[in-house]
Amino acid sequence: MNSAAVAKKLFVKTYGCQMNVYDSARMADVLAPLGYAPVPTPDGADMVILNTCHIREKAAEKVFSELGRLRPLQEARRAEGQQMLIAVAGCVAQAEGDEILRRAPYVDMVFGPQVYHRLPEMVARAARTGAERGAAVLETDFPVEPKFDFLPELSAPPGAAAYLAVQEGCDKFCSFCVVPYTRGAEYSRPAAKVLAEARRLVAAGAIEITLLGQNVNAYHGEGPDGGTWSLGRLIRALAGIAGLVRLRYTTSHPLEMDEELISAHRDVPALMPFLHLPVQSGSDRVLEAMNRRHRADDYRRIVARLRAARPDLALSSDFIVGFPGESEADFAATLDLVRETGFAQAYSFKYSPRPGTPAAAMQGVEQVGEAVKAERLARLQALLGEQQLAFNRASVGRRLAVLFERPGRKPGQFIGRSPYMQSVHLAVHPAVHRAAAADDRIADGSQALPALGRLMEVEIAAAHPVSLAARLPMRPSALSVMAHGE
Ligand code: SAH
Ligand code: SF4
Ligand code: F3S
Repeated sequence: MNSAAVAKKLFVKTYGCQMNVYDSARMADVLAPLGYAPVPTPDGADMVILNTCHIREKAAEKVFSELGRLRPLQEARRAEGQQMLIAVAGCVAQAEGDEILRRAPYVDMVFGPQVYHRLPEMVARAARTGAERGAAVLETDFPVEPKFDFLPELSAPPGAAAYLAVQEGCDKFCSFCVVPYTRGAEYSRPAAKVLAEARRLVAAGAIEITLLGQNVNAYHGEGPDGGTWSLGRLIRALAGIAGLVRLRYTTSHPLEMDEELISAHRDVPALMPFLHLPVQSGSDRVLEAMNRRHRADDYRRIVARLRAARPDLALSSDFIVGFPGESEADFAATLDLVRETGFAQAYSFKYSPRPGTPAAAMQGVEQVGEAVKAERLARLQALLGEQQLAFNRASVGRRLAVLFERPGRKPGQFIGRSPYMQSVHLAVHPAVHRAAAADDRIADGSQALPALGRLMEVEIAAAHPVSLAARLPMRPSALSVMAHGE
């Protein structure tokens, strides 16, 4: 064996939700022992993985156009006597594996979200056969073994804000949604495994963890005490990990907002005052046709209980406009719910019929025309945009703790998140940087400066539609620096 194995280049492109982001990182972990190291572009890569999303129509089309762009790169590699394995993973792979191999026969591997722990074996098979027609690897069965039991530990540091999957799959079967078919049945990881992974993340530098699941608040994992733990219980246990300063969870379903979880928003300071709680529609008729199994008033009541527990809770949601049969009155009920609730941010979509879902096969129900969908979406987004701007404006002048996660475009720029999930931009003038570092009135000058991965209190200077601009909190020393600086 050649011990000085040459690193192989792995390019992973991720579409869709945070669960896919998590899965992509774990695929890289699985491939690391085989010598694969991530690269930022597909040029010259030994393997390309497209981790796909099936939630709306255009998502799958994007995958096919990306595959079309990869093909010449694969051929160029082949002309040099090299290989570029192309894999399609994720929810499109799960739903349309055969279709992918038919439309793009140069793809080497197609595998669903529950089998990527088997990547080493799939890669070995694919490398042997090459992309001979019909020889590609296709793995879209739901395995009996939970993949989590076979994933290796992290191969790369997680960053200050990390994701941790605690639950996967969905048994809710909303009539418009593909997720129960692409991700399979609900599964909760045992609490002890979640706690151990969280401790590893914190030891590797994470100070914020977002718990992930398609229905994260349906979590019902086996507890170390032999009982079943709810998400509220799990959050209380996680909050005990020293060094874990911020906790979040996403995505939740209104039906699963139980008392233990709501009260965690009151009792657990690490649990951030932001919640993404999709409602989809404000019309009971539409909610019923969507099989959401709750009414608009149930949502209002849950929001009231959450705000009683945590008065500054910022809310986010998902909305679908133009569901089959949605009338102008139904849509007006959605606008009413939005006006009454007040959202700090939100996502809204035109209904997109998905193959295999009950809503796509609804007979005798009038489909909403494209023009009406577009017009309703514009009205809803205008209202949600106003609410987001108002929420952001109310932050101006406040001091907020921001976790800086990435650099901005210019030197000295930092981008992070407020407790309320707002994107916060901070630009530090180099003169201020130098002066603060040299200021002997601050015990360790460098602690007064923002840095990637650092949680820092800043002052909000201005509000934009989807972000905030911040400055360093004004101290007398900083003021004199500004006044006398270059
Ligand atoms: N598990 C989450 C959402 C997962 S999908 C939940 O239960 O809320 C993310 C969002 O995509 C959904 O909340 C919904 O608003 C949107 N979505 C899902 N299927 C859709 C479809 N067929 N057409 C349009 N939007 C859809
Ligand atoms: Fe889809 Fe509904 Fe499950 Fe959310 S709860 S993933 S919308 S089926
Ligand atoms: Fe998309 Fe699958 Fe996530 S369909 S939204 S990647 S669960």
